[in-house]
Amino acid sequence: MSSKEDKTLQAIKFDREHVKLDILDQLVIPYSTTYIPINTIEDAFQAIKLMQVRGAPAIAIVGAFAVVVDTHTYLQSGESSKTIKDLKDSLDYLITSRPTAVNLANALNDMKVLISLAAEDSKPVDKTTLKLLYDYAVALYDDDLANNFKLGENGLQYIISSLKEENFEGPFSIITVCNTGSLATSGHGTALGIIRSTYQNLNEENTKEDFWLDHVYPCETRPYNQGARLTTYELDYEQIPFTLICDNMVSSLINTLNREKAVKDSSAPVKFIIVGADRIVKNGDTANKIGTFQLATIANYFNNKNENQKIRFIIAAPKTTIDLNTPTGEGIVIEERPANELTTLVGPQLAQDGVGEKVTVGIATPGINVWNPAFDVTPHELIDSIVTEDPHVFTKDASGEYQLSK
Ligand code: MRU
Repeated sequence: MSSKEDKTLQAIKFDREHVKLDILDQLVIPYSTTYIPINTIEDAFQAIKLMQVRGAPAIAIVGAFAVVVDTHTYLQSGESSKTIKDLKDSLDYLITSRPTAVNLANALNDMKVLISLAAEDSKPVDKTTLKLLYDYAVALYDDDLANNFKLGENGLQYIISSLKEENFEGPFSIITVCNTGSLATSGHGTALGIIRSTYQNLNEENTKEDFWLDHVYPCETRPYNQGARLTTYELDYEQIPFTLICDNMVSSLINTLNREKAVKDSSAPVKFIIVGADRIVKNGDTANKIGTFQLATIANYFNNKNENQKIRFIIAAPKTTIDLNTPTGEGIVIEERPANELTTLVGPQLAQDGVGEKVTVGIATPGINVWNPAFDVTPHELIDSIVTEDPHVFTKDASGEYQLSK
């Protein structure tokens, strides 16, 4: 098990001087802090596919840095056989590592455009190509980090104005799913970034309002358990009060808290469900981790039942996650993952004296049919707002439609 000192929230380490890339292996968090080197585009493909790095912004950044490292190593080797066309083909290959999150495709397609503007397909990859790629990747990382802090602040302001509008007073809770924090981005996070910013500014000790964030409920996020493994790790690291729940406990949790019954030691009602996004299309339909759609449906049920206990369903994402080329959620390709992610559990053996070997245990009848979509699409009508790095929070117009822009 990692000691407190070993723990880190830095998913991506890029050495700008020596052009080296290491990623935190998210398959062994929270039990071990291990960085693995990414030396080639193929290394990045495998790490993204295996989900050693995951989260829409993080995979885009790792993909972009990997292209830089690969190109840098190639130029250092003194070879001269690679053309711009070869490089563009390898970027197309890398895009296929995970199809749903648009950030990876956006970043690598941008890189393709940049190098195409500078040189024809038949020209060799050279130092100018590398400089263009390097500058793009570094800016992608820096912008993501800066935008996450803006997004967190915008989400906080939206939370404050929503609660004021309702004349809400006292403690409240937030539900989230998957991992959308530092580990899924360059830092701070999106949905978890809003939770971070909200807790920093609106906890019981320091709030200047009549309300405060009392508790966070991360969903376990079956089958890959990003909520249980990664979001709890981040919340624990930040000392934000939280209680882990299974994905199928959400209705019961909200109902229990609405009846002012305590769950463990908090009875603060759920006022917000805040989630990230892998792709937000033109009409606001949003692909995110499987289970997101049912969270929105549950919020809708409670909102229809009792207008005084409104739960707002918020999508939090940087504008790099917006895809204006796809008109509706129908057009989103949903990644299907292998059956063994449902039929087995993988993790280290835990013993009193520490963490042991990784083991795989079976939890379903062998050889059965399994459906394992990694994401679902929440229809825009169930989404109350889309928070980005822009101070203007997107909400629906009078006819119930989103007018999104980049
Ligand atoms: O399969 P994952 O872990 O890559 O899925 C991640 C999510 O669905 C996140 O919510 C999304 O990428 C936003 S991360 C800031």
